[in-house]
Amino acid sequence: MPSCYVCSSIFQCLLIILMISLKKSLSINDNQHQNLQADVGQDVTMSCLFDEDKIEQVSFMRQMTGDILSLGSELFVQESSSIQHIKLIKFSPNRLDLKLISVNQNDSGIYTCMLNDEKLTSFSLEIFVPPRFLSYYPIEGSVSYAENTTMNLSCRAFAIPSANITWIYRDNNKQSKTIQNGESVYISSLRPSDSGSYECIASNHFHASISRSFYVTVQYSPRLMIFNEKIVRDVQGTVLVKCRVCSIPEVMQINWLRHDHIINDVNILTKTHPIDHQCSETIMEIVDLSEYQFGRYECQAENILGKNSVFVDVEQSSRIVKTKHYEHHANEFNRNGRTALLIDKDQQSNNTHSILRIETPKSLGNANRFSYFLVLLIYWI
Ligand SMILES: *[C@@H]1O[C@H](CO)[C@@H](O)[C@H](O)[C@H]1NC(C)=O
Ligand SMILES: *[C@@H]1O[C@H](CO)[C@@H](O)[C@H](O)[C@H]1NC(C)=O
Ligand SMILES: *[C@@H]1O[C@H](CO)[C@@H](O)[C@H](O)[C@H]1NC(C)=O
Ligand SMILES: *[C@@H]1O[C@H](CO)[C@@H](O)[C@H](O)[C@H]1NC(C)=O
Ligand SMILES: *[C@@H]1O[C@H](CO)[C@@H](O)[C@H](O)[C@H]1NC(C)=O
Repeated sequence: MPSCYVCSSIFQCLLIILMISLKKSLSINDNQHQNLQADVGQDVTMSCLFDEDKIEQVSFMRQMTGDILSLGSELFVQESSSIQHIKLIKFSPNRLDLKLISVNQNDSGIYTCMLNDEKLTSFSLEIFVPPRFLSYYPIEGSVSYAENTTMNLSCRAFAIPSANITWIYRDNNKQSKTIQNGESVYISSLRPSDSGSYECIASNHFHASISRSFYVTVQYSPRLMIFNEKIVRDVQGTVLVKCRVCSIPEVMQINWLRHDHIINDVNILTKTHPIDHQCSETIMEIVDLSEYQFGRYECQAENILGKNSVFVDVEQSSRIVKTKHYEHHANEFNRNGRTALLIDKDQQSNNTHSILRIETPKSLGNANRFSYFLVLLIYWI
């Protein structure tokens, strides 16, 4: 033994010999049962060690089926497909390897290497399957739904050990959150804010996880916004109204209407320009306002999902009403509406009525009527 050359004493030499033999017996024990793990598609080698020159008495068996796979250096395989699948390799005079090429789930189980009737080594082979998608819905990675409809996305995966599915939602501002554990995500009534990407992730915490993303667009009928619902102007004034329209898909048309008809007036200009892929702004401009042009205007937009409107009232300013009716008493009114009125007892009742109307131009309600009679009473006294 070479190690004896370095031994300084017989005792030390014996100790080394003991350690070597212990190590040998330990490794034999280790080899008696081996747990092997492999993923589908990988190759697996089962090595059997035996005394030299005993190779003809060595066999490999499959415990579950009781099949003898090999005897000596001869392989027994029935199916032609197995010839590619199983190989017997004479590694050295005291080692024989059974190699399974590209294993599948059917290969899992216990294999034993025998020397005649004596079991030399057993191998318990476990086959794992990395996650893979069995199906997902919808097939397309990019899908559109109309608002208020339902959405049901699903992913089914297979893996050994089994995989769980988690869903991550990312909105259009790239904010993400986990929204669901399980195979499907169901939303019964979609809102435009549900647009974004939905990603299913299949993971068994053993293999690398896999994922699939769905880019969801929720389509909606035009949403309109007008910046001021009421505009008060003088005759000959200029009116500028902005109306913002957002929709998916894009609007087919945006119109300005009056009395349900598209405006066709020489001094009313309209123009529309896009803001982004969802929104546009349309502007209506009335220059040199005429009396007949006071009233309600409609901003209307339509896409494939529907048609919506918003309204703006163009009203004549009350100063105009006053100057028209009371050129002579403008000063009194300007100074102090009602006080001026009560002092001017000599004024004609026609005027009083009208002045009150100016103060609250919208209606002649009960309060007004009461004031009117009060003034009449004062006048009469
Ligand atoms: C595994 O065995 C089953 C049933 O015997 C068979 O249908 C299947 O095709 C086998 N799989 C492979 C990958 O050989
Ligand atoms: C969806 O529902 C909302 C609220 O009920 C409604 O305002 C909208 O017009 C609906 N959209 C469509 C396209 O029917
Ligand atoms: C969503 O789809 C999955 C798979 O297609 C189905 O199992 C599930 O029942 C559906 N959910 C609803 C609420 O319809
Ligand atoms: C899968 O989900 C189940 C139940 O939610 C949980 O008990 C299990 O630990 C999960 N497995 C993995 C690999 O995440
Ligand atoms: C009140 O106005 C009417 C016409 O609007 C006029 O005919 C009438 O004379 C006026 N009354 C007085 C008292 O001025």
